[in-house]
Amino acid sequence: MIHSRILGTGSYLPTRRVTNDELAQTVDTSDEWIYSRTGIKARHIAAAGEQSSDLAVQAARAALEAAHVAASEIDLIIVATATPDMTFPATACIVQNKLGITNQCAAFDVQAVCAGFMYALVTAHQYIQSGMATKALVIGAEVFSRLLDWNDRRTCVLFGDGAGAVVLGASDEPGLLQAKLRADGAFAHILNTPGKVACGAVDASPFLYMDGQAVFKFAVKALAEIGHEVMQLADITADDIDCVVPHQANRRIIDATAKHLGISPEKIIITVAEHGNTSAASIPLALDTGVRDGRIKRGDTLLLEGIGGGFAWGALLLRY
Ligand code: UT7
Repeated sequence: MIHSRILGTGSYLPTRRVTNDELAQTVDTSDEWIYSRTGIKARHIAAAGEQSSDLAVQAARAALEAAHVAASEIDLIIVATATPDMTFPATACIVQNKLGITNQCAAFDVQAVCAGFMYALVTAHQYIQSGMATKALVIGAEVFSRLLDWNDRRTCVLFGDGAGAVVLGASDEPGLLQAKLRADGAFAHILNTPGKVACGAVDASPFLYMDGQAVFKFAVKALAEIGHEVMQLADITADDIDCVVPHQANRRIIDATAKHLGISPEKIIITVAEHGNTSAASIPLALDTGVRDGRIKRGDTLLLEGIGGGFAWGALLLRY
């Protein structure tokens, strides 16, 4: 049986770091309000003209280097993004070109917003397990700053830009142990950006809308349930998990979910303070942070979990 393993990780944050205090100079908010409600201290914002593909390429190069894999060996690229460079072609094709990969590997985007990286990773795993690919670049890349109404304090303080990537390769040893992905389109109305390009204009609002409290309630319940489910499927308990790499939307959602799952706080990688919510980029950014600072080691059992617009959510158990 062919398995898939993470061979290397990488990430990239735009240079510009914006603190809560800096935001408070332009919108009616405060560091105290933002930090106490979300755990966010700062976020990185892409430069004018810097696109999701630019962030993705930087993260991908770091992941390739860590994996000791040449770009020419890649036979699948999946980019998870809700902020593609263009309506089409797929950002994955733009990334392929920027990386100089000319071997006609498959390349496409996955759109599952904050759950996108998990959807992309499971998809790449299926490609590898079926023999259709041997080395995949799986990337989460976002410029959510472009979807924000910077006068709306309810949303503009919450998000940031960035990218994270992994090289997933065929292996004799199991890497992805269990995965559960879910979606419920009946909740699309509580978190969305309705605007679309149509008939020569942007049709409907181009700004992110969120009913924060409804999202909070849904998120904690759904993540606790799916976390338990994936542990049951793998026949393991919270004690068997070495590290949790959650979607970094909000410190309170992360803590409440971990409490439901019986996972001790020191096992959780938290990057939301410095990254804000980077949607599909948040899990691979946190994963790379944990790998590079030594908290995530080879052989560790990891739980990845997250939720976002759709609603779409999931939980994955990995042997790193
Ligand atoms: O991938 C999933 C992404 N989504 C999330 O993670 C969001 C989950 N939701 C939450 O984390 C919380 O609901 C928020 C942090 C978004 C909001 O916290 P809350 O405690 O639910 O606040 P609220 O929306 O009930 O607003 C309370 C008050 C309101 O003022 P009034 O009407 O009571 O006078 C808001 O206008 O806080 C006000 N407010 C702010 N004040 C200062 C909202 N945003 C801000 C702000 N600064 N940035």
